[in-house]
Amino acid sequence: MSSDTDRIWDFIAFGVVEVTTSVMMLAGLGAVLLSLDWRLGLVVTIPIPFVLAAIFLHGRRMQGLFLRAWRKWSQLTDCLSDTIPGVRVVKAFNREGFETKKFRERNTAVLGKFTRIHHAWTSFWPGLMLSIQILILTVWILGVPRVLGLSGASLSAGTFVSFVLYMTMFMQPIEIIGQMARMVNRATSSAYRVFEVLDTKPQIVDAEASVRLEPIQGRVTFENVYFSYDGVRPILRNMSFEIQAGEMIGLVGPSGSGKTTVTNLLARFYDVSDGRILVDGVDLKSLESGHYRRQIGMVLQDPYLFHGSILENIRYAKPEAGLDEVIRASEAANAHKFISQLPHGYDTMVGERGHSLSGGERQRISIARAILLDPRILILDEATSAVDTETERQIQDALDRLVKGRTVFAIAHRLSTLTRADRLLVIKEGRLVEQGRHQELLEIPNGVFKGLYKLQQELHASSVV
Ligand SMILES: Nc1ncnc2c1ncn2[C@@H]1O[C@H](COP(=O)(O)OP(=O)(O)OP(=O)(O)O)[C@@H](O)[C@H]1O
Ligand SMILES: [Mg+2]
Repeated sequence: MSSDTDRIWDFIAFGVVEVTTSVMMLAGLGAVLLSLDWRLGLVVTIPIPFVLAAIFLHGRRMQGLFLRAWRKWSQLTDCLSDTIPGVRVVKAFNREGFETKKFRERNTAVLGKFTRIHHAWTSFWPGLMLSIQILILTVWILGVPRVLGLSGASLSAGTFVSFVLYMTMFMQPIEIIGQMARMVNRATSSAYRVFEVLDTKPQIVDAEASVRLEPIQGRVTFENVYFSYDGVRPILRNMSFEIQAGEMIGLVGPSGSGKTTVTNLLARFYDVSDGRILVDGVDLKSLESGHYRRQIGMVLQDPYLFHGSILENIRYAKPEAGLDEVIRASEAANAHKFISQLPHGYDTMVGERGHSLSGGERQRISIARAILLDPRILILDEATSAVDTETERQIQDALDRLVKGRTVFAIAHRLSTLTRADRLLVIKEGRLVEQGRHQELLEIPNGVFKGLYKLQQELHASSVV
């Protein structure tokens, strides 16, 4: 995108002026040539539309070539933006050779496309120049006998000399237009790509008359919700439930059953395919999404830290928060202790994916971030998955402080961490199959939850033995 916009800028800054003056020069000088001597004037001006047409047609062809070349070019950069962040996986599975080969192939493809462009260009340009020279030669052949009085209407030497001089000036704009055609083509194919992106419609758009709930209570209702990411494979099917404000809900179910999807819909990262989601009785689609999302806190399955200091990361959603506020949030998240032991404390820089921190540390920072925001609705997706039992207990304490007085959706595979939940929703293959308290669910004969729970108990028992 940035090199594309550069090219468009190039064209607007230089190309437009050059082309406009050239066209004006062409028209003016054409008139001068015709008034000097109409016969020779016609010889020079009649072929010009054909020359311009040739430039135009060639330009169209070049545009296609450029478009294809840029496509190949993005395939090449795709390859890099994929393998460089994933370099650990590449190395771990010893696939350097394969990735290098892939890169080389794409590089060769790019080279091939650009070579074709240069071929097309270098064969067209000399051809154009040659035809212009032939035109000049024709004028001499037709003009000289008339000056010498050998044939045709008489022509004074003075008129002929000025004609030849003006003709040379006349040819310059054609050359410039020809040269500019290249710039124009590059700019048009770039503009095409830029508008491809700009014209993409966002899938989530706020309704015309979007409303704000102030403050949000946190009552959540799913009404016969159906959802599919790709419009083909159904992920959630006929899901209905009602959550009271301040309730803590545990979402459980096998991997891939749709737990994270439920929270994605709740945060309106996607719109439901059918059915409705209501917050405090208002359809999610009619809420102003920015304002609504600010009242949702999320601790995600894979917490993301931005490049910057820990402080910046914690107060990401609330940049105006003071240091004391941040420290209180980190203490609540049990993160203050390890942060203050770092050499630069809260000013420690963390990398693109928080490389210098462990998974559990990152998770606690993302919990602190959610605490600081003080959201009405809190989503905890496997918030304790990346830590040992002791840290998990600490995080659990932090979360217990965090969940008070809010609507909470907690997802956990370790079912024991959800014993405090007011209610558990059990999801299997995108359907809500059971719901109730921990104890109630265990009493359902052959229940899904009972099955999952027993399995974990056995696993736990065998690993203790
Ligand atoms: N962005 C996406 N595009 C297409 N399909 C997706 C996308 N995200 C998830 N899915 C699919 O939707 C299904 C449900 O995924 P989801 O992430 O909700 O599962 P989950 O219950 O959270 O599982 P886990 O416990 O492993 O986190 C899966 O089959 C998954 O492949
Ligand atoms: Mg998940």
